[in-house]
Amino acid sequence: MATNQAELKTVAIMTSGGDAPGMNPFIRAAVRSALAKNLRVLGIENGFEGLIHGSFRPMQARDVGGILQRGGTILQTSRCPEFREPAGQSEAIRMINDAEIDALIIAGGEGSLAGAQALSERGIRVIGVPASIDNDVYGTDICIGVDTALNTIVDAIDKLRDTASSHNLAFLVETMGRESGYLAVQAGIVTGAELVLVPEVDTPVEEVARVIEKAYLRGKTHCIVVVAEGAKPAASELAQRINTMDTGFSTRVTILGHIQRGGKPSAYDRLLASRLGYQVIELLTSGQSGVMVGLTGHDIIPIPLEEVTTRKKELAIGSLEMARILAL
Ligand code: F6P
Repeated sequence: MATNQAELKTVAIMTSGGDAPGMNPFIRAAVRSALAKNLRVLGIENGFEGLIHGSFRPMQARDVGGILQRGGTILQTSRCPEFREPAGQSEAIRMINDAEIDALIIAGGEGSLAGAQALSERGIRVIGVPASIDNDVYGTDICIGVDTALNTIVDAIDKLRDTASSHNLAFLVETMGRESGYLAVQAGIVTGAELVLVPEVDTPVEEVARVIEKAYLRGKTHCIVVVAEGAKPAASELAQRINTMDTGFSTRVTILGHIQRGGKPSAYDRLLASRLGYQVIELLTSGQSGVMVGLTGHDIIPIPLEEVTTRKKELAIGSLEMARILAL
């Protein structure tokens, strides 16, 4: 964590990586909190790509009006392999200096926060904000976007259960999350899924088939298995293999895909994003940088970006067992 008392006149805000519902309320909160401190605010378009190419636009209070309830990000976002190279980072720093940006605010997931740390190590004042539906960022209980994505998943699984029960089907539902099973486990608990498969724990195909068959034998009219995208084998292959076994049910797959990233942010995400956006400006104006703002318990707390980017957020494996017991 660095403190820097040099004058702060201009802050620039970026969203980066996969979009997450709540990025807009975050932008709104950060812009208006900065303006309230008489700072000049620039929006960086399209994540690190826009930073490297100097795509900046001035932001006023009215530019962020009417976006609290909108999914996606008005600044747009990208994944930017160019920025991973030192040459890309040097170009970004040149743009920061040319535009007289004193501090950067970067909202995104693991990769974006690693980018924030790279700039911080090179002397740029930067604060990171966790925004990713995957909830795989160390140093925060939850990221912007997770709650909305979870609600989208729950809504979809509730609907799938209706059709599954009507036809005596088993559904394998693939959720996003990259290498993290967080979304899958939470979704499994709140939809009463019979089984949750995550990348963090290997589950043999025979075991999956056994759980589905047991559900059938217990008289269930459906069986829901939530499969996190990083789990092996992937949901489609798993379904093919299970359909060659006799479980009682016929098995179908639904890959929820990018609908999980869209949609209007939930009240929880709007509140979290607003708190984080406000707090970022409080920290920057008090001279702090090189940190990420995260939620710990009920509090917004800064944690060094170095720690965020070198430590791994572990899945609470106990919740898998809880999901299993509650679905008996
Ligand atoms: O990080 C968010 C996420 O939606 C992951 O869950 C998923 O693995 C990945 O992004 C998909 O990325 P893309 O939209 O670039 O294919």
